[in-house]
Amino acid sequence: MNTNVILETEGLCKYWGGLKALDDISLKFKDRQLHGVVGPNGAGKSTLLNLLCGHYKPTSGKIIHEGAPIDAIKPYAFARRGIGRSFQKTNIYPSATCLENCCISAQRRMGGSFNFLRSRYNQTVLEELATHALEKVGLAKRRDEVAAHISYGEQRQLEIAMVLATSPCVLLLDEPMAGMGHEESLLIIDLLKRLKQEYCIVLVEHDMDAIFELSDQLTVMVDGQHLTTGSVEQVREDPRVREAYLGQGDEVY
Ligand SMILES: Nc1ncnc2c1ncn2[C@@H]1O[C@H](COP(=O)(O)OP(=O)(O)O)[C@@H](O)[C@H]1O
Ligand SMILES: [Mg+2]
Repeated sequence: MNTNVILETEGLCKYWGGLKALDDISLKFKDRQLHGVVGPNGAGKSTLLNLLCGHYKPTSGKIIHEGAPIDAIKPYAFARRGIGRSFQKTNIYPSATCLENCCISAQRRMGGSFNFLRSRYNQTVLEELATHALEKVGLAKRRDEVAAHISYGEQRQLEIAMVLATSPCVLLLDEPMAGMGHEESLLIIDLLKRLKQEYCIVLVEHDMDAIFELSDQLTVMVDGQHLTTGSVEQVREDPRVREAYLGQGDEVY
């Protein structure tokens, strides 16, 4: 038995009219492992993350978290269960400080609006969660800076801190290295190496060097279909993977 499976999908499907954005996907995500998801554009990677965090409802199939089916629960209940995600497009409040961004995020996990919760939850507790999250990603020194004034790479780190501030058990990360230079990517790789010792991470990323270096399990998707899942070595040796990428003009190797 896979005792450390924390999140699971069974025959998960998402259709948009006649388009099968995700078709019959069954995957197991384990605690303290990083599960990479790759595939050409339009493969359904972001759709998978959107389903796993409750942002989209599946057309059919199951999502199971710690043994309980959760596909029918409300979107906010996913966050309350500790399933946190970052978005492919930057999702921060540019005029708020780094600390405030993390506080807003921590409050969201509780549900309700920012002002409403301000009166009900202890601000000190939120600030502790936020500060701890900033420390984890190496942004403690930027705590009181306005998010718009930090570098692009730091903004992407801040987005990860915002997920951490929600006290998650699962981190769903959609292309956290997009648009980054080499040095900045190395910082994120280092960060994810540390975080995967503590969390279950599902990482969608185009940077193949990064995904090969980080993944304990790697899934390849093409056109909404599951192509293969295995170790990095198994996936790299799979001729179907090479074929799928060569057919799309992307480089894997
Ligand atoms: N909200 C939506 N409405 C209609 N089609 C969508 C929507 N979101 C995604 N799709 C389609 O689903 C397919 C998979 O998209 P996506 O999951 O974003 O792929 P990836 O992240 O792998 O590039 C694409 O064909 C995309 O156009
Ligand atoms: Mg995407």
